[in-house]
Amino acid sequence: MLDLPHPTPDAPTADCFALAKALSGVHFIGGRYVPARSGKTFAVVNPATGAEVARAAEGDSADVDAAVLNAAEAQKAWAKVPARKRGALVHACAAAIRTHVDELGRLIALETGKALRTESRVEANVVADVFEFFGGLGSELKGESVPFAPNVLSVTVREPLGVVGAIIPWNVPMLLMALKVAPALVAGNSVVVKSAEEAPLAVLRICEIMNRILPPGVFNMVSGFGPECGAPLVAHPKVRKVTFTGSVETGKIVAKAAAEKLVPVTLELGGKSPMIVFADCDFEKTVSGALTSMRFTRQGQSCTAASRIYVERPIFDRFVAEMKKAVDAMVMGDPLDEKTDIGTIVSEGQLEKVRAYIAEGTATPGATAHVCSAMPTDPALKKGLFIQPVIFTGLDNSSRLVREEIFGPVTVIQPFDDPETVLAQANDSEYGLAASLWTNNLKVGLDLAHRLEAGLVQINQNLVVQANLSYGGVKSSGLGKEASLEAMLEHFTHKKTIMVNMA
Ligand code: NAI
Ligand code: MG
Repeated sequence: MLDLPHPTPDAPTADCFALAKALSGVHFIGGRYVPARSGKTFAVVNPATGAEVARAAEGDSADVDAAVLNAAEAQKAWAKVPARKRGALVHACAAAIRTHVDELGRLIALETGKALRTESRVEANVVADVFEFFGGLGSELKGESVPFAPNVLSVTVREPLGVVGAIIPWNVPMLLMALKVAPALVAGNSVVVKSAEEAPLAVLRICEIMNRILPPGVFNMVSGFGPECGAPLVAHPKVRKVTFTGSVETGKIVAKAAAEKLVPVTLELGGKSPMIVFADCDFEKTVSGALTSMRFTRQGQSCTAASRIYVERPIFDRFVAEMKKAVDAMVMGDPLDEKTDIGTIVSEGQLEKVRAYIAEGTATPGATAHVCSAMPTDPALKKGLFIQPVIFTGLDNSSRLVREEIFGPVTVIQPFDDPETVLAQANDSEYGLAASLWTNNLKVGLDLAHRLEAGLVQINQNLVVQANLSYGGVKSSGLGKEASLEAMLEHFTHKKTIMVNMA
C-alpha cells in the first residue's frame, strides 16, 4: 500500500550495494519512507572491507513519537480485521519475502558480515517460514466458555495489547524481528521496531516489502542508537508491550523502564549453552554437531552458541583433534562469496571484546589455544573484521571464558568423568538458554535433559530456533517464550472475561 514514490526498486535486486544506498537515511513510518526529523544519519559499514555502504536515519524521541502515534491509530482498524484475514495478510507477506530471499540474504551479509551461503540466505528463508507459520494461526486466537451458573454465559476472548515496541540486536536481525512482528501482527497489535545500529538495512527492506500488503501504520521501523531511540520507544505511554532481544545488561534497563509503566515485557538475553558429549556418542555426527552447535558459520555470534563443551574423558583428546581439523577445513572469506563458510565479526567493538577474551584465555596458566582455519588472503579484505576461531583446552569453570557470553568464535572444551559432575558444571551458570547432550544412552540423556537448567535441551542435534517450538531461557537468559502459538497467545494478547446474565 505504498502511496508515495520511494527510492528502492520494487523488484528483487542482486545489487546489494545499490540497494543499501537506496535504503539510506530513512525510517519506515505510517506506510512510507521518512527521514529522521533531526536530519541526522549514521554510518552503516561493511565489516568485510571497512567501507561505508549506507547512512541510516538516526532516530530520536521525535521519530519514535511519530511512529508510535501512527501505529496507535492504525491498530484500531487492524484489531477489527477478522483474525484469519490478518493471518492471511501476514501469510501473503511471507510469500513476498520469499521472492526477495536472495536479495535479503545479500543485504544482511553486507551489513553484518555473515556468509551468504551458510548464514544470511538461510536466515532470509527462515524469516519467510516464520511469517508463514504465524500467518496460519489466526483462528487459534480463541477463548473458552467457562462454567459459572445456569443462565449465565461466561466466556473468555483474546484481545490484542495495542502498540508493541520491539527492540532487536544485530546478530540475526531479520529472524529476531520476525519472531516478534509475526505473532504481534496476527494477534491484532501494531508494531514499532527499533533496529540494531549495526544492521538496520535488511529489516527496513522487509518492512517496506510487507507494507505493500499490510495497511499503513501497522508495521513501522525506526533506526537509531539504544539510549536515544530505543529508550523513548520503551518509555512511550502508548506502547503497551515491550519485546526485547539483546544483552542482559540492556535487558534489565528495558525491564525497569517497562515496569515504570506496568507494561508486560518479553526478554531474550543470550546464554552460555553447554554441549555435553558422552563417550558412547555417534562420534562423527557429534564432531560435526559441535561445529553447528558453536555456530562457527556465524562467528559464534549466537545466543545459543555451544561456547562450553564438556567431553567424557576417554574420547576427549580425539574429539578436540577432530573438531580442530573440521574447523580448519572451514573457509573464511568475503561474506558475499558462495565459497565462504565463515565471514566477519559484526563491528570493531565486538571484535575487540572477542580478542580480549582470547588474550585472557591464552594468558591463563595451563591453557592451550587451538587456533583454527586461516585468515583470508584477498587484499580487498585486509581491513575486514576477520578473526580465526579458537578452541581452548585447559580452562575450567572458574574462567571468564566459561562463565561469560563471548559472542565470538571461541569455545572451551573440558573433560568430565561422570554425569553428576558434568550436570553440576553445566548448571553452574548465570544463564539458562539452551543445552545439548550427545549420547546413545537415552536413559542417561533424558534424565539429564530433565535436570538441566535451560529453556531448550536437544539430544543428538542442536538446531537453531524453529517456528512452532517455544524458545526462551531461564535465569539471566530471559523472560517468556517466542516462536510458538503459546508465545503469540501469552505474550501478544490478554484474556478478557465476558459474562452475560440471561436469567
Ligand atoms: P545491546 O543489548 O546493548 O543491544 C541490543 C539492542 O538494544 C540494540 O537495538 C540497541 O540499540 C538497543 N538498546 C541499547 N541500549 C538501550 C536502551 N537503554 N534502551 C532501549 N534499547 C537499547 O547489545 P550490544 O551492545 O549490541 O551487544 C553487547 C553484547 O550483548 C554482545 O557482545 C552479546 O554478548 C550480547 N548480545 C546478545 C544477543 C542475544 O541474542 N541474546 C544479541 C546481541 C548481543
Ligand atoms: Mg550495548
